[in-house]
Amino acid sequence: MNILILGSGGREHALAWKVAQSPVLDQLFIAPGNAGTKQHGTNIAIDITDARAVGDCIEDRTIELVIIGPEVPLVRGIVDELETRFPKLCIIGPHASGAQLEGSKAFSKEFMQRHNIPTASYQSFSLDQLQPGIEFIRAQSLPIVLKADGLAAGKGVLICSDHDTAIEEFEAMLNGKFGRASAQVVIESFLSGIEFSVFVLTDGRSYKLLPIAKDYKRIGEGDTGLNTGGMGSVSPVPFVDESLLAKVRERIIEPTIQGIQADGLKYRGFIFFGLINVDGDPMVIEYNCRMGDPETQSVLPRLRSDLVALCMATCQGTLPAQSIEIDERVAATIVLASGGYPGSYEKGKAIAKAEDHSQGMLFHAGTKMVDGELQTSGGRVLAVTSFGSDLESALIASRQKAAEISFEGKTFRADIGFDL
Ligand code: AMP
Ligand code: GLY
Repeated sequence: MNILILGSGGREHALAWKVAQSPVLDQLFIAPGNAGTKQHGTNIAIDITDARAVGDCIEDRTIELVIIGPEVPLVRGIVDELETRFPKLCIIGPHASGAQLEGSKAFSKEFMQRHNIPTASYQSFSLDQLQPGIEFIRAQSLPIVLKADGLAAGKGVLICSDHDTAIEEFEAMLNGKFGRASAQVVIESFLSGIEFSVFVLTDGRSYKLLPIAKDYKRIGEGDTGLNTGGMGSVSPVPFVDESLLAKVRERIIEPTIQGIQADGLKYRGFIFFGLINVDGDPMVIEYNCRMGDPETQSVLPRLRSDLVALCMATCQGTLPAQSIEIDERVAATIVLASGGYPGSYEKGKAIAKAEDHSQGMLFHAGTKMVDGELQTSGGRVLAVTSFGSDLESALIASRQKAAEISFEGKTFRADIGFDL
């Protein structure tokens, strides 16, 4: 079978690495891919938000399965367009209706409220509701969380420690601070606890749980500094025990799948539940309609089952009959970023010592081959994943490999997992 993966980050390299191990794979294509995905298939330079270009690629390469990595094409409705053109194609990724769970925070909050799924209390406001919004902020306890409704590349959430700042930011957001994404703003109460990431593969009726992970979003050690796409991850997560997981299934995953059905949303693909453990009770911070990055780089190495078989079962209505086998070892991922990231940074730096290592894998993100030389081409450059019999040994192996790889400006967090 020929398979196409859309995306170009570390998540997509991990997907390509996993799909390449499938016994049913003939040819793998990655669009646009990166220097790492080339080890497993053929990169295709197309704009993945252009449904016609993606469709032509599917036709030309006789693709039978498409896995969509990032949220932007999903939220823009690429699945609806591809399905119209290729009714028999297996596509992993929700239709536009289902992708709203990530594409609109107001939509996802209403969804959770409607289906009694635990989340922070909130109200949403648009520019014509500026005054009621300000009054609402004044009545809130601190800190106050402001969220741009739409996709804002991970930057649309502000946590304000006083009312005046919150009001100022609220006005700025409604007036276009995040463009159209903040034409509507969700104001919600602050939840205090420790976050973790839960992933399922669903056909919209049943689901399979993938390994649990935790990601580290801030650039600085000790979870300080600016938010990034994610600087590291670990799987499993020690505090997510059987009892917490049972609550996650009963209170969050199952009502979400039932809600998707009840509301007639079209969903076939991954759901990423961004959760927080508040005194033993899980609550939803956000939904994403895709896998996480860098969580995928810790989650997929622990999945022993064939990902392609799981994807095909999702499309064929046979997901309940599939079994999921998980590697008991711990996986720890450390991201190597360009100096300056998540602010401005230089590209085109030569990378040395970037080969797979004995205890694990090396996933590429912002890399490019230029005249036979591997160079940096983005903010997050590489992700090192290692296995260990425990968290500490997995982390030590990843730290060693992260220290060994070199490029000018290399930045990484040596403290991933510090809070576990
Ligand atoms: P989001 O884009 O919704 O995942 O938000 C980005 C980050 O902001 C999350 O990973 C949390 O660390 C934080 N955050 C978002 N909402 C809340 C909340 N209600 N309470 C506390 N922290 C939050
Ligand atoms: N690591 C968080 C995300 O993928 O959104």
